[in-house]
Amino acid sequence: MRVLVFGAGGQVGREVCRAAWPASYELVPLDRNAADITKAAAVSAVIARKRPDLVINLAAYTAVDRAESEPEAAWGTNCAGAAHIAAVCGEDGTPLVHLSTDYVFDGRKRESYHEEDAANPINVYGCSKEAGERAVRAATPRYVILRTAWVYGAFGANFVKTMLRLAAERPVLRVVADQRGCPTAAADIAAALIAIARQIERGGMEWGTFHFAAAGSTSWYGFAEEIVGLARTLGAWPSGSGPRIEPITTDQYPTAARRPMNSVLDCRKIAALGISPPPWRSSLPAVVRELIGAEGR
Ligand SMILES: NC(=O)c1ccc[n+]([C@@H]2O[C@H](COP(=O)([O-])OP(=O)(O)OC[C@H]3O[C@@H](n4cnc5c(N)ncnc54)[C@H](OP(=O)(O)O)[C@@H]3O)[C@@H](O)[C@H]2O)c1
Repeated sequence: MRVLVFGAGGQVGREVCRAAWPASYELVPLDRNAADITKAAAVSAVIARKRPDLVINLAAYTAVDRAESEPEAAWGTNCAGAAHIAAVCGEDGTPLVHLSTDYVFDGRKRESYHEEDAANPINVYGCSKEAGERAVRAATPRYVILRTAWVYGAFGANFVKTMLRLAAERPVLRVVADQRGCPTAAADIAAALIAIARQIERGGMEWGTFHFAAAGSTSWYGFAEEIVGLARTLGAWPSGSGPRIEPITTDQYPTAARRPMNSVLDCRKIAALGISPPPWRSSLPAVVRELIGAEGR
C-alpha cells in the first residue's frame, strides 16, 4: 500500500512520518519543495509518477491571523490546492484523506459540533478551509475529510511550544479563558490516519466527513494550566518557580482573526468505526516531556 503524503514537513506531517505504519505500507512524504499544491501540474505529475494507493493531504496555510492580510495565499493552498489534489484523485479513483478544521464553524452553538452541522466560518482561514472541503466533495466520491482541532506536538509552531517558551520568560501568563476546544496531539492524528488507511485498504471505510479531536474539552487557559503544571512537575524550572496563569477574555486579547468561542467537536461518528480519540489530557505529558528535553526543533 503506497501512501502519498502532501504537507509532510508540517507538524502533523512530521508525526505521520515517524508514526508506526504497518510494514507493508510505503510512505511517500512530500514537502512543499517536492510538490507545491497550488500548482496543478506539479500535483498531477507527482501523483502520476508515484501511483499511490492512497493520498493524504496535510498541506495547508495555517497562519490563522496572517491569513486575514494574505487571503490569496490562504485560498491558494487551502482551497485551490485541495481542489488540485482532489481532481487528480477523482480522475484516478485514488482514495483521498484530507485534513480540515474546527474553524469551519462559527462557534455560536452551545453544544459540541456534529459533522452535519452547518459550517459558517468567521475568519479567512476557516473560509478557505471550508471551501477546500467543498472542492474535495465535488471532485471525488472516495474521500475522507477529517476535521481536527487545536493541534499540538513536538514539531512546528503550536500553543504548547508557545506556552513553554513564554513560561521561561515571564512571571505571569494571561491566557484566554472563554474559547473552548479540544487540544489534539498530532501523534494521535497520525495514529487515526493509520487506522483510516487500514480501513480503506480493507475496503471497510465509510466515505465522508468525520470529526477527530481529543475527547473532552477545555479553554486555552485550562490548556495552559495543564501544560505549565506538567512542565513544573517535570522540573522545567527550579523548584517552586514557573509562571502564574491568569484567565482573560477574548476581548482582552485582540487578534487579527476572530475565533469561534466554541469549537468542540463531537467525534462519535468516527468512534463508531473503532477510531476513538483519547482524552485531551492523556497525550500531553509525552509531548511536554519531549519538548522540555529537546529544544530548537
Ligand atoms: N494546527 C492546528 O491547530 C490545526 C487545527 C485544525 C486543523 N488543522 C489542519 O491540520 C492540517 C495539518 O496542519 P499542521 O498543524 O500540520 O500545519 P503546519 O504545521 O502549518 O503544516 C502545513 C504544511 O503544509 C505546507 N504547505 C503550505 N502551503 C503549501 C503548498 N502550497 N504546497 C505544499 N505544501 C504546503 C507547509 O509548508 P511550509 O512550512 O513550507 O509553509 C507545512 O509544512 C491542516 O489541514 C490544518 O488546516 C490544523
